[in-house]
Amino acid sequence: MSNFYEAEVLSVRHWTDRLFSFTTTREASFRYQSGQFAMIGLEVDGRPLMRAYSMVSPHYEEQLEFLSIKVPDGPLTSRLQDIKVGDSILVGRKASGTLLSQNLLPGKHLYLLGTGTGLAPFMSIVQDPDIYDQFDKVILVHGCRHVNELAYQERIAADLPNHEFLGDLVADRLIYYPTVTREPFENQGRIPDLLQSAQFYDRLGLPPLDMAHDRFMLCGSPAMLKDTVEVLAGQGLKEGNMSHPGHYVIERAFVDK
Ligand code: A2P
Repeated sequence: MSNFYEAEVLSVRHWTDRLFSFTTTREASFRYQSGQFAMIGLEVDGRPLMRAYSMVSPHYEEQLEFLSIKVPDGPLTSRLQDIKVGDSILVGRKASGTLLSQNLLPGKHLYLLGTGTGLAPFMSIVQDPDIYDQFDKVILVHGCRHVNELAYQERIAADLPNHEFLGDLVADRLIYYPTVTREPFENQGRIPDLLQSAQFYDRLGLPPLDMAHDRFMLCGSPAMLKDTVEVLAGQGLKEGNMSHPGHYVIERAFVDK
């Protein structure tokens, strides 16, 4: 059996000239946990060109959804951005990734910190009812340059709290904190700076960072990961992995081309 299967594109949404998302069919045998990624791609010159993409869609959804940047000369995204409904893409049969709550020590507050398309794995996590059994509050922080790059804002802020099954859980436990760095917006600033700002915790209605209760998942550019880890490690927090749960976990598989 091949490592990939062909999925059909069901919808495409272009958010900006740098950002788009799409949904595809899902093979029934393709299983994943919230927060994981799969290799997806296109056949180019007779060979599969694949990159790691986190699933936006929760694990119980019939369709798959992905969020992607568009890089004009990026080997994959320059082609992927032209996909249309009815086209096929390749999806790897194996999901993986470290953004799993089992890699974290038990805690009260789960901070999901993403920049740009680093939001994607957190979309599946905030739609997973299990996460609300494990944490009192789930805080989704999405950092972008511009307001129009805050993808899924409406789904997070309006649709989810009214969702038939998840609505009550989400309304009570999920705090959404979109933040923008290059134009005026209700919340501004980069994630590492926010983590050190009293005003940030005030606005969330939560106590300042405390390693006894706070857990973190990080997904973003290498620079964002480095600067955010510096803040967390500076407070004594330790990274978790499959063999040793810790205070924070990082997704390093990030498409930038
Ligand atoms: P900024 O506008 O100050 O560069 P990008 O689209 O380049 O991936 O950026 C997405 C968001 O991540 C932007 O708000 C950007 O802020 C922010 N960002 C860029 N570098 C870092 C970093 N080292 N730490 C935290 N956030 C960063």
